Amino acid sequence: MARLGVNIDHVATLRQARAGKEPDPLAAAVLVELAGADGLVVHLREDRRHIQDRDLALLREIVQTKLDLEMAAEESMAKIALSVKPHLVTLVPERRQELTTEGGLEVAGQQERIQRIVELLHDSGIPVSLFIEPDLNQIKAAHKVRADFVELHTGRYANARRSKEEDVEFEAIAQAAKLAYKVGMGVNAGHGLTYRNVRRLTKIFEIVEFNIGHSIIARAVLVGLEQAVREMKQLVS
Ligand code: PXP
Repeated sequence: MARLGVNIDHVATLRQARAGKEPDPLAAAVLVELAGADGLVVHLREDRRHIQDRDLALLREIVQTKLDLEMAAEESMAKIALSVKPHLVTLVPERRQELTTEGGLEVAGQQERIQRIVELLHDSGIPVSLFIEPDLNQIKAAHKVRADFVELHTGRYANARRSKEEDVEFEAIAQAAKLAYKVGMGVNAGHGLTYRNVRRLTKIFEIVEFNIGHSIIARAVLVGLEQAVREMKQLVS
């Protein structure tokens, strides 16, 4: 049975829309854990468009399961991670203009730089995961730089329009998971996963954790809307 990590970035996105105090990702973290999630995931972006430094520091205090910090492979970010000490750091590529993380980390092309960040984090006892495309060369490179985990980018699988295309992407994820497992790395997966497309991936036994954000927060907005309106209606009438 795979574990579920819930990415709560979008709770912070909603808060930042008014630059106010609610909804607070800390409150969301408590509810996510009460509902049985196995971990919380947040991405501290360079432009701080959603999660803030304050969120990260306080989440580290209150999260009782596991806090996975996604961040760019930069020394300035590694310094923050070393002071916060999350349970896991996931290195992701980061481009300022992107709406969300597009594509996996190019590990094979920048092994030295990534290995330096991995070593910095390892020196403080923080395990490291690399968010990569399900590509065998990237898996080998991740192993070379001594990553503890890989997180396989499931975006292409999730975006597949035809079942044949989905089959090809599923197979790529299955093969990548198999190789990563064989060389001794833990295997996580995520990006673009929904209530419809996740089930098929649970058949890949090497994947021990799914990290899901957008779809869960989007559903929460809808399943919670009726009650929220009823409560306000009662107040005004
Ligand atoms: N894993 C990583 C590394 C990510 O960057 C993201 C998006 O922030 C996710 C998982 C979650 O993706 P989604 O929000 O599409 O579920």
